[in-house]
Amino acid sequence: MIVCESIEALRAERARRTGSLGFVPTMGYLHEGHMALVQRAVAENDHAAVSIFVNPLQFGENEDFGAYPRDLERDLALLSAFVDLIVFTPSVEAMYPHGFQTYVQVEALSQGLEGARRPGHFRGVATVVAKLFNIVQPQRAYFGQKDAQQLAVIRQMVRDLAFPIEVIGVPTVRAADGLALSSRNSYLTPEERAAAPVLYRALCAAQARYAEGERDAEALRATMRAVLAAEPLAHVEYVSVADAETLQECEGRLCGPALLSMAVRIGRARLIDNIVVGVEQ
Ligand code: PAJ
Repeated sequence: MIVCESIEALRAERARRTGSLGFVPTMGYLHEGHMALVQRAVAENDHAAVSIFVNPLQFGENEDFGAYPRDLERDLALLSAFVDLIVFTPSVEAMYPHGFQTYVQVEALSQGLEGARRPGHFRGVATVVAKLFNIVQPQRAYFGQKDAQQLAVIRQMVRDLAFPIEVIGVPTVRAADGLALSSRNSYLTPEERAAAPVLYRALCAAQARYAEGERDAEALRATMRAVLAAEPLAHVEYVSVADAETLQECEGRLCGPALLSMAVRIGRARLIDNIVVGVEQ
């Protein structure tokens, strides 16, 4: 494992390697979800790189940038199992030097769902990922389906700006009780952690209704809301049934694949989760 803190050091390491490179951008505090992406990148490419950078640009003013969990030593220990891995750990000053003023905005796909509740979030994500792509120069980049809108935004950016990169979506890694792994799960108290699988239970209940033939979008949203309402610690921000491609909210009968998704506050944690219905998995 080689750790690069500067853009120059990373570029030098990249230049020493021929063949394909698989890239996994992260904000650190790594868990098995991140590691699934790293394993794919290592298995499917000649070389692999991981970035660890808590990106201030994608956090709103009242969000958890300061509190976001960080433990670089632990992250590097987890990654040290991969011998040839490049780990990029830039500073905020390196990524956003004084006078920085160039941003990437993916328009329609950024507007609904998470984008509607977190203004500027996907502008921050697209900007940092574009810059990381330019620095790391990967052939493939790996993103989790857990952040479905982020994956859609990055795919669109790569198409629109002609990055020569294949974007690969990796299925959500869950704890045994169904809770999607997330760095933010560390905010949960034991009692809140016990309540948190309600998100996945709500998604599975709607998926079961869908499998029984229910195609009314509002009925599927109501199914999810009913499951969430039974958990007193869960404060629902939104529940959505959206077109899986455009991410536009569905009204009436579903006619194609749909993204079922939600954001729920439990204690200090804002949790998101999703599943897709209507496609062969
Ligand atoms: P972060 O939340 O650290 O996630 C890094 C990558 O891991 C993302 O692609 C995310 O979707 C994926 N991931 C997180 N939890 C997962 C799980 N349980 N199963 C599968 N994949 C999972 O997402 C970001 O960082 C940032 O927005 C970033 C893309 C790095 C830009 O700053």
